[in-house]
Amino acid sequence: MTSAQQSKRAQVKVIYSAEQIQARIKELGKQISKDYSGVDKPVVIGVMKGAICFLADLLREVKIDQPMQVEFVRLASYGAATESSGTVQAPYLDLPNLYQRNIIVVEDIVDSGRTAHFFMNYLKDQFDPKSLKLACFLDKPSRRAVEFTADYVGFTIEDLFVIGYGLDYNENYRELPYLGEYTP
Ligand code: IMP
Ligand code: MG
Repeated sequence: MTSAQQSKRAQVKVIYSAEQIQARIKELGKQISKDYSGVDKPVVIGVMKGAICFLADLLREVKIDQPMQVEFVRLASYGAATESSGTVQAPYLDLPNLYQRNIIVVEDIVDSGRTAHFFMNYLKDQFDPKSLKLACFLDKPSRRAVEFTADYVGFTIEDLFVIGYGLDYNENYRELPYLGEYTP
């Protein structure tokens, strides 16, 4: 191991192992499969970049009798910091017409709630969805600035800055297969 790798490791404390994450996603997949059985053409919207791992794993645990559509948007509220910036940016927001569809938004984490609140309202305004739910890998309810309750939550965590499994610090560490607490 190089010294750069060592210092990378030294700052990270594992919160959920890859195995724990996969086990929880199987449970969520079962729940969603049950709730969406018989629901017409669900469309999943992944919020980039943080949702990459969660979306890819969760999708493959959802077993319903209909094909699913997958779309992406890119939203950001953090920038290069460990504190939410307070404004939501949408660097990529190019969706097809999803009028009256059954939409499931997939997010990495609901923290202040601003991103989720913004995007759910945007979808309601644009597409008047038949149903609209949000699945997040993580929920940090102690940090809410805007009221928001997710429909499906992987894990509820304390007020920690976490990385891995899609989540970044300054665009690093998304590749880790586990969730770790990062101390800058
Ligand atoms: P919110 O708008 O404050 O709810 O924040 C949502 C976004 O902030 C998430 O999609 C993440 O990209 C980022 N974020 C919030 N908490 C963390 C964290 O602990 N680690 C990494 N990114 C985070
Ligand atoms: Mg981020």
